[in-house]
Amino acid sequence: MNAPRHYLQFNDFSRDEYDYLFSRTRWIKERFKRYEPHHPLFDRTLVMIFEKASTRTRLSFEAGMQQLGGSAIYLNTRDSQLGRGEPVEDAAQVISRMSDIVMIRTFEQSIIERFAEYSRVPVINGLTNEYHPCQILADIYTFIEHRGSIKGKTVAWVGDSNNVCNTWLQAAEVLGFHVHVSTPPGYEVEPERAGLYGTDHFAHFDDPMEACRGADLVTTDVWTSMGFEAENEERMRDFADWQVDEDMMKVANPGALFMHCLPAHRGEEVSAEVIDGPQSVVWDEAENRLHVQKALMEYLLIGKIEGDCA
Ligand code: CP
Ligand code: NVA
Repeated sequence: MNAPRHYLQFNDFSRDEYDYLFSRTRWIKERFKRYEPHHPLFDRTLVMIFEKASTRTRLSFEAGMQQLGGSAIYLNTRDSQLGRGEPVEDAAQVISRMSDIVMIRTFEQSIIERFAEYSRVPVINGLTNEYHPCQILADIYTFIEHRGSIKGKTVAWVGDSNNVCNTWLQAAEVLGFHVHVSTPPGYEVEPERAGLYGTDHFAHFDDPMEACRGADLVTTDVWTSMGFEAENEERMRDFADWQVDEDMMKVANPGALFMHCLPAHRGEEVSAEVIDGPQSVVWDEAENRLHVQKALMEYLLIGKIEGDCA
């Protein structure tokens, strides 16, 4: 049996593969908007395992699989044996014998890596403490829809150097753009944890205004990610000066976009004026999770498709 292809972090795919996925996403999205059925995954089953909460990821994977002609099963730690100490390796052997593709949202990246090693079917990272590749796939597709290629552009990341930030940094290496990161002291990017090959594609700025200056896209995320709730009070104090506001958007390039993976906290990491303002594309960004993940699942299960396959 051939080893399945997984999508565990952004740099699992090459630039050529992303070019294909972005053009395929466009095709899939346009068809969907015309209410034309597209069922390449008829009879296939997606298992979704959630060890953390979700709205968008669950909805977009479940709806996406149904729209591709397959079905999706939701498992969470609370009501499955996963929460009662069944080894990940055993769960992977069993779950992958009963399904065609698996999506997992969990804590450490090592958990999903162990699962993938023992899985007979492709495994997709639906968010770990370290990475959130499906999110950045959607974000970059959204950027392309609004502004064209992201190659050579500058993305400003303001806030925590978390899973979403790490994935932006990997994407910059794969797709050839720059990320200007501003975090409070003590929360800086750790290149090794981010899975970077080098440091050429990102620069650190102590001052968030300087990170935003001249940026084509300004983006942020919650100050306290899932799994880090015990640090919440301390983080509220430490991040107080790292709120994306209108002054930061003003020093970015004219036409700069604002993105946030959501859920957002207005008045914390972003002001209401920015997230609800004219430069914000957060709803397109959320919707595009559906379309990019359909292209991703199709690619992992069938490979490249030239033209129609309905
Ligand atoms: N952005 C994102 O992954 O949202 P959920 O946590 O709602 O899935
Ligand atoms: N960084 C956030 C993203 C949520 C989609 C978290 O991990 O909680």
